[in-house]
Amino acid sequence: MASVSSALADARESARQLDRDDELAFTRPEFNIPTKSQIASTRLPESSNNEASNDTTKSVYLCGNSLGLQPKRTQTRLNQYLSTWATQGVQGHFKPLQDSPLPTWLDADERAAELIAPVVGASVEEVAVMQTLTANLHLLMSAFYRPDINGRHKIILENKAFPSDHFAVETQLRHHNLSPSTSMVLLSSSTAQQDNILTTSEILSAIEEHASTTALLLLPGIQYYTGQLLDIPTITAFARQRGIFVIWDLAHAVGNVPLQLHDWDVDAAAWCSYKYLNAGPGSIGGMFVHNRNSAVTKLITDEKPEEGYSNRLAGWWGNDKKTRFGMANKFHPVKGAAGFQLSNPSILDITSLSASLEIFALAGGVGKLREKSVKLTNFLEGLLLAMPEFTEEKLFRVITPSDSKQRGAQLSLMLREGLLEQVIHELEKRGVIVDERRPDVIRVAPAPLYNTFGDCVEFVEAFGEALRAAASAAK
Ligand SMILES: Cc1ncc(COP(=O)(O)O)c(C=O)c1O
Repeated sequence: MASVSSALADARESARQLDRDDELAFTRPEFNIPTKSQIASTRLPESSNNEASNDTTKSVYLCGNSLGLQPKRTQTRLNQYLSTWATQGVQGHFKPLQDSPLPTWLDADERAAELIAPVVGASVEEVAVMQTLTANLHLLMSAFYRPDINGRHKIILENKAFPSDHFAVETQLRHHNLSPSTSMVLLSSSTAQQDNILTTSEILSAIEEHASTTALLLLPGIQYYTGQLLDIPTITAFARQRGIFVIWDLAHAVGNVPLQLHDWDVDAAAWCSYKYLNAGPGSIGGMFVHNRNSAVTKLITDEKPEEGYSNRLAGWWGNDKKTRFGMANKFHPVKGAAGFQLSNPSILDITSLSASLEIFALAGGVGKLREKSVKLTNFLEGLLLAMPEFTEEKLFRVITPSDSKQRGAQLSLMLREGLLEQVIHELEKRGVIVDERRPDVIRVAPAPLYNTFGDCVEFVEAFGEALRAAASAAK
């Protein structure tokens, strides 16, 4: 035990040095980090302000892969939005206010698109901040999945896709009177590969096998369970060369790893904003549509309004702003991804998302954050792999690829069978928040915007204790 505690003391010292040297340390105070007593509390506090409470010991929050923490400026921006609404009513839509950092509501979607475009590597015209992730996947498929039962009708996805993606594909097929048994291709890793890590060559050979009958490929940028980052440019190029439309689900990739959706020639993508983008639970999502897929190529005439743009399920907010309020029943889409919008967006949501994106800009963008993220996750992995609970007792293993190019912030830890519930309980008792994926996985994600190297050490210490407690209870 002495060697374990001296190893932890060394780790603590290295963490202190790494945190001192961290150029991005200034972003952590931008966030509300719950204290340990707040995490344990079952009451709604009168104030969410940590400084107002006596207990200022911060929890170890490593769950940004599920729900990002709240930026302090979110409250400021939301209050500004609420004041605008309270004092201006409907005028908030179009009346700019002096000294307000917020756009008029009519321009809020455009402003948010400007902020998100660099995060996903797209032009502003190629992104829309709208709806939610599953809704956006459906909207993209409604526009771009045009099956021909005698030709291309299949959709390829992974067999362990997030259930919502699986349901979306299945119901799209049924919507077109097709059967998942013949039109749904589920990718799985070969038996040689453990833990459903899909190699690029396995994915490419499945695409090759079904190339002539496949219309669409839907894959996750980062797999939610394993944390594997797929090779988006290689897979996209390979599928597109074979005439397949490529959509990426970027739930776990957006704000986590640098993306170059335009340059990688991705056809379309969708994401949510409540994980690494810290916009709050269920907040507004977004989509990317490559400009070759959203161009308005002809003058839209009233006789044939559908000519000149790809068909889609439409709503008034996708209509060209110049004619949107003319209230004519002729759909003239804005060119670009904004032409796929349906409804006027929730300004509450957009304000919250934009507040967090301000911090991404302050940090110098996702590229800069990724440099810290790689260091943080490598540091955490190094500590985990040195634990006796790993090396000797084999109470867990890391199922996320060990190559940092094949993962984002998250490490997924597969626990020995039967330990999960107790481990989570023991971690919570120690003020440590991670998330669980049944039956046996916990996901641990140090987010570079607000986590520290010190958090990684605290986690490993608590995790060791939690594993030992769970293992002895299981005996
Ligand atoms: C990979 C993935 N796809 C889809 C979803 C569903 O997202 P939403 O509920 O925002 O539609 C999630 C949610 O966490 C997810 O992780």
